Amino acid sequence: MRNPGIHARLLIAVFAIIGCTTFALGYMGMNITHQFVQTRFEERISFLAKYLALNAELGILIDDKPMLQRLAINLLSEKDVMGVTVFDRSDGELASILKETAEPLSVIDVPVLLSRSQEVSPFQWNEDADGNNLPIGRVRIVYSTGGIEQLLINMRSRFIWLSSGIVMLAAVIFYFLSHSLVAPLTKLAQAARDVERGNHDMRVQPGSLPETRELALAFNSMLDSLERSSSALEDVYRKMIHQKNLAEMGKFSMMVAHEVKNPLSIIKSSLDVLKEDMSITADNTMVRYMEDEIQRLNRLIEDFLAFAHPAKPMFRRVEINSLIREIVMRFDLQKAKLPVKISTDLLEEPCHVNADPDLIIRVFDNILKNAFEANGDKGIVNVSISREGETLYIDVEDHGGGVDPENIEKIFEPFFTTRSKGSGLGLAYAVQVLRTHGGAITVKNKGEGGAVFRVTLPIE
Ligand SMILES: Nc1ncnc2c1ncn2[C@@H]1O[C@H](COP(=O)(O)OP(=O)(O)O)[C@@H](O)[C@H]1O
Ligand SMILES: [Mg+2]
Repeated sequence: MRNPGIHARLLIAVFAIIGCTTFALGYMGMNITHQFVQTRFEERISFLAKYLALNAELGILIDDKPMLQRLAINLLSEKDVMGVTVFDRSDGELASILKETAEPLSVIDVPVLLSRSQEVSPFQWNEDADGNNLPIGRVRIVYSTGGIEQLLINMRSRFIWLSSGIVMLAAVIFYFLSHSLVAPLTKLAQAARDVERGNHDMRVQPGSLPETRELALAFNSMLDSLERSSSALEDVYRKMIHQKNLAEMGKFSMMVAHEVKNPLSIIKSSLDVLKEDMSITADNTMVRYMEDEIQRLNRLIEDFLAFAHPAKPMFRRVEINSLIREIVMRFDLQKAKLPVKISTDLLEEPCHVNADPDLIIRVFDNILKNAFEANGDKGIVNVSISREGETLYIDVEDHGGGVDPENIEKIFEPFFTTRSKGSGLGLAYAVQVLRTHGGAITVKNKGEGGAVFRVTLPIE
C-alpha cells in the first residue's frame, strides 16, 4: 500500500483528535445531563406523592371517599401521572383511578402519617411502643416513564448528530486548510518533474502563504541559476566546438601555407632567371603583374603563418620614441612612390617599455597599412604617443571613412575583412601580440570622419 501523504495524514490526525475529543466531552456531558434530568423527574413524582399523602390525611381519618376520589382525579391531570390509589391502614382501597396507557409504568408508594399539629387529637393510639408515628394509610402513584425515556433518547440522538456535525465541519475546514498547504508542494513537485523533462522556462506561481511563497521563490531562483549555468555551459560547449573546428582548420591551412610557400619561392626565382635570360625589362606589364601577385601571395602566407603560429616574444627594454621613429622610417621607404605622409607626435622624454620590437613593428605595420588603405593611399596619417601614469597610448589616426559601426565589434576577429584582397588577419594578429605584451588595441571613429586605432602598452 502507498504511504499516505501529508494531506491524508493531517486529515486522519484531525479526524481522530476532534472526533475523540468531541465524543468524550459529549459523552460526559450527556451522562451528567441524563442523571440530572432523571433525578429531577423522580423528585417531582415523589413530591407529588408526598403532596397527595399530606392532603389525603384528613380524608382517610374521616373516611371521606368522595373527597379522596376528587383529590385522585385532580392529581391525574399532572403530566406523567397515570394512576392514583389511596389505601387505608389495612390496605383497603378508599379511592382509585387509572388511565389506560401502553407506556412503561413505575409505581411509588408513600405512607400517610399524622402530622404533628394533630398530636393533641384523640388518635394518640397511632404511635407504637417507641413513640414512632405509625401510618394511617398509604397513597400510590402509578406514573409513566415513557416521556422521560423519549426525552433522553432525543437528547442522545441530538448529541450524536451535533458531534458528528462538529467533526464533519472540522474535517471540511481542515481539508481546505491542508489542501492549501499541500497544493503548493504538489505544484512544486510537478514543476520539478517538468524541469527534469527539459522544460527549463517554466516557473511556479508563488502561493498566498508566506512559507510556500518563500519556497516557490527559492525554487524559481534555483531554476534561474540553473538556466544561467546551463546556458553558460552551452556557450562553452559551442566555443569548444568552434575552437576545435578552428584548430582543425588551422592545422590544415598551416599545411597548405607551407606547401604553397616553397613552390612560390621557386616560381619567384625562376621568374628572375627568366627575366635575365630573356632580357625582359623591369617595366614589362606582364612581369610586373606576376611579381605583384607573387608578393601579395607571399605576404598573405606570412600573415597567416604569423597569426596561426605566433612567434614567442623575445622581450627587451625598448625606447618607444625611437621604435616609432624606426617604424615610420621603414614605412616611408616602402611607400616612397605614393603621395602619403606620416606625421608624428612623440613624447618629449624617453619612455621605455618591455617588448619584442620585431613583433611590435609588425603590429604597427598592419595598423598603418590599414590606415593608408582607408585613406585611399594618399594623404596624412598621424601617429601620436601620450602617457597616463604607467600606461602608454599610441594613437594612429587616418582621414578615411572610419569603421562601419556595424562591424566595429568584428574587425578584431580573425578572417574578418571588408576588403576584396584582404586576409582579415592584420588586426587579429595585433590583438594577439598586444595581449602577450599586457596591452590592448581599441578603435574609435572620429566625428569628422576617419578612425583612431589606439594601442595601449604598460610602461616598464
Ligand atoms: N583604418 C581603418 N579604417 C576603416 N576600417 C578599417 C581600418 N582598419 C581596419 N579596418 C576594417 O577592419 C577590417 C579588418 O582589418 P584587418 O584585420 O587588417 O584585415 P584586412 O586589412 O585584411 O581586411 C578591414 O577589412 C576593415 O574593414
Ligand atoms: Mg589589414
